[in-house]
Amino acid sequence: MNYENIIVEKQGKVALIMLNRPKALNALSPDLTRELGSALDELEVDESVAVLLLTGNEKAFAAGADIKAMRDWNYMDVYKQDFITATWERITRFRKPTIAAVAGYALGGGCELAMMCDIILAADTARFGQPEITIGTIPGAGGTQRLTRLVGKPKAMEMVLSGRTMHAEEAERSGLVSRVVPAADLMSEAMALANRIAELSLPVVMMAKDSVNRAYETTLAEGIHFERRLFHSTFATEDQKEGMAAFIDKRKPEFKNR
Ligand code: CAA
Repeated sequence: MNYENIIVEKQGKVALIMLNRPKALNALSPDLTRELGSALDELEVDESVAVLLLTGNEKAFAAGADIKAMRDWNYMDVYKQDFITATWERITRFRKPTIAAVAGYALGGGCELAMMCDIILAADTARFGQPEITIGTIPGAGGTQRLTRLVGKPKAMEMVLSGRTMHAEEAERSGLVSRVVPAADLMSEAMALANRIAELSLPVVMMAKDSVNRAYETTLAEGIHFERRLFHSTFATEDQKEGMAAFIDKRKPEFKNR
């Protein structure tokens, strides 16, 4: 499919989606959002894809929802379309692993979209924030919820109430991103991480993802129970047999996704 606001490429088992509205710092317009949703639908069922890598450009991952598109919307406009932020959530239902590679601005909806991914890898140029309050609104795609769970209430409050942004180093220290790398190495590091995951057993990786995500939705006891049942399920896979046999034979495993 041809897209105007995103670029989709496949590199081996890794699907790369690049947000591509550079003149608007990749602001998440309704068209971009629709295209992202379609691409995710396609990649979800594409059996050649094991991992999704989402990125922007050197200057911006995304500077938020498109303010120019939103400016004149009234309550009914946003309510009736569940203001497309509901559509952004599509990525949280993507069952294969997702990595956000963030350089430059990840603000407002951009920060929220990155937080919807499983892993955020940041360039040392990355800047995260929820500046919605400075334009007379509040985060609407999980900014007050996911940020608070990731960095804790005091820092989330400061960012959401004042619009203060944080640099990559502070974001790593606060638990928002998994790692900071030099900007020049961002894509090679992100691709190396994606390839490393893509070589593993996809169904088992999906179970691991499901289990970590459950930690955000349930009590510890229920989460542990869920994890144990999935752990047991891995013993029904051929890949568990292969992984353990390969370890004992001191060879590289050949996972078949079965
Ligand atoms: N929406 C629409 N256009 C945007 C945009 C956005 N979120 N962010 C930047 N742009 C546009 C600018 O209007 C500008 O376009 P023109 O050249 O046509 O004027 C272009 O991108 C370049 O931007 P700047 O000239 O502002 O670039 P800068 O380097 O001086 O500043 C910035 C960069 C600090 C990121 C600044 O652009 C900015 O503050 N952007 C808005 C950030 C923001 O408030 N995001 C939250 C949006 S609301 C939201 O996301 C709601 C939600 O939770 C769902």
